[in-house]
Amino acid sequence: MYTSMKEMLDHANENNYAVMAINCTNMEQARAICYAAAEEASPVIINVSPRQMLAHATPEIMVPMIRAIAEPLDVPIAFNLDHGDTYTNVCRCLRAGFSSVMIDSSSYEFEENIRRTRMVTSVAHAYGASVEAELGHVGVAANGDGQTSDMYTNVEQAVEFADRTHCDCLAVAIGTAHGAYPDDFVPRLDFDRLAELKAATKMPLVLHGGSGAGEENIRRVVELGINKINVCTDLFKHQRKAMHAKLNEEPNIDYMDIQMWGEDAAKDYIKSYMRMIGSSGRYTFDYTGEQFD
Ligand code: G3H
Ligand code: ZN
Repeated sequence: MYTSMKEMLDHANENNYAVMAINCTNMEQARAICYAAAEEASPVIINVSPRQMLAHATPEIMVPMIRAIAEPLDVPIAFNLDHGDTYTNVCRCLRAGFSSVMIDSSSYEFEENIRRTRMVTSVAHAYGASVEAELGHVGVAANGDGQTSDMYTNVEQAVEFADRTHCDCLAVAIGTAHGAYPDDFVPRLDFDRLAELKAATKMPLVLHGGSGAGEENIRRVVELGINKINVCTDLFKHQRKAMHAKLNEEPNIDYMDIQMWGEDAAKDYIKSYMRMIGSSGRYTFDYTGEQFD
């Protein structure tokens, strides 16, 4: 079923597990994500970023395709604009039928972030779509971001931000960063801050930059209240490696077969990640959320 993120993240928040949010730029990835969810009886979120939309995966192509894959399945599947930048882009996605949008105004100062986020919640909620916002700033691993607390989310501000913007979930900065870290580097995360953020906001919290964060860290942040984990780099890398190895082994493999090989590799990766973060088996019987129209 095609749903917003609201009910699934509220359920994850109440039951202390996390849902994967996976970037996707084509049909094979969309199928891998949705079928992994169906096979694991797990909720899932499909993400596409403005850069990915611009380069390849336009909202108008992605929405009907994802709906066609998701609607017949018995698990909740949301389609979310990842790191939405402008109001124009947000509105384009809502018009195209996204069930959720993120507005990332985290590089603006506090009041401006609130103003921009509030504009988006007003319009998105009128569409029945959910809204993710970001406070503090999750930077880029290649720039060495995330290792000092200057960009981390402030607890008091988070409470005020959620209250004034009415966002449905909040991305917090606690030490992860986007993209690949240097080899053998595992980030140190601020677990105390995360526990405080959860206790103060009580709302669904989001971890960006899930790739390379380390299994132990991921399990711990779920225990402490992260309910949505964004993964892009690791999945893309895993899929590419699997396709590369297959092409080396069978250089004349049919084009469709190599696509399907990549799809299966992505699906296996996603299924094991879902088990790790506790979303597997959550929606066999107990889903009561509204479908998105
Ligand atoms: O919004 C997308 C993510 O935060 C993905 O980050 O590429 O480090 O997994 P990642
Ligand atoms: Zn992100």
